[in-house]
Amino acid sequence: MPRHRLIYLALILLSATLVACGSTQPPTPGNAPAGAKKFRIGMSQANNAEPWRIAMNDQIAAAAAQHPEFEVTFTDAKQNNAQQVTDVEQFISSGVDLLIISPNEATPLTNVVAKAYDKGIPVIVLDRKVNGDKYTMWIGADNKLIGRKAGEYVATWCKAQNHAPCSVIELRGLEGSTPALERGDGFREGIATNPDVKIVASQNADWVYEKAVPLAEAMLKANAAVDVIYGHNDPMGEAAITAAKNVARDLGKTLVLGIDALPTPDGGIQSVLKNRLNVTYVYPTGGTQAIEWAAKILETKTTPPKEVVLETEEITSANATAIYQKYGGK
Ligand code: FRU
Repeated sequence: MPRHRLIYLALILLSATLVACGSTQPPTPGNAPAGAKKFRIGMSQANNAEPWRIAMNDQIAAAAAQHPEFEVTFTDAKQNNAQQVTDVEQFISSGVDLLIISPNEATPLTNVVAKAYDKGIPVIVLDRKVNGDKYTMWIGADNKLIGRKAGEYVATWCKAQNHAPCSVIELRGLEGSTPALERGDGFREGIATNPDVKIVASQNADWVYEKAVPLAEAMLKANAAVDVIYGHNDPMGEAAITAAKNVARDLGKTLVLGIDALPTPDGGIQSVLKNRLNVTYVYPTGGTQAIEWAAKILETKTTPPKEVVLETEEITSANATAIYQKYGGK
């Protein structure tokens, strides 16, 4: 066979192979062919006002950038359940391929999540839960465990300090959001090992720094002896420190705990390093994992586990520097 005929034949074979591959292979993550089918993902965020939620959105966006075949639309419910129901309704009617939701409160969001799921839209619930089981999977850390670890830390610390009684004030998260209940219940289990630990005041500040400052001021004024301040998140722990300053209360001998431990200059790990918070717990946002699971669900048709539980870590001044580096703090 003449040489040019051979080359021609080889080219035909090569292009036939490429066409076959293109029609059978799912788009390769990070390397989608131009014009590949986009998967449209709706991300319904409870609010964009808190740094931890911005971190979650940023992680989702960064992970999605590795998947050019994904197009993620973010909505901000501004801590308003009705708004979040509307946001999800709109995602359903616009026909998204997958829904990610971090629900503001469980009960008000349960029906609309079930509606999306019943329509066959895969639903990944992140961090806060909904009721029942009408969703594809939940990803988040174990808030009961985190609360229990915080309680055990307090129980041990109070004993070591010979504080009997050992008076605790608690700043709680939004009542209808599952982490608030779980962090509160777990904490109570943890302190039960030391009967001298007493919760003398507990107020709901909805996770929000600005709401927690005046509440903490009032609690400090009403309680002459406060040995421990437990904030259900770092912003509320920080709010108590601000409140103490406002009412000229020295927290030098008070243990202050928070949860979140964002590896950012204003986050909880740096707060521990600056001797403001004494203890915090890593509460991963799950943003990266949500996109990784979205890819498996949409592209390889994997049936995910119903729950993916993310790791936490206890942070004190002893390990804060190492953990800041580990989580890529900057
Ligand atoms: C942000 C936040 C975090 C907290 C989480 C619980 O909205 O309050 O600080 O860890 O939500 O869902």
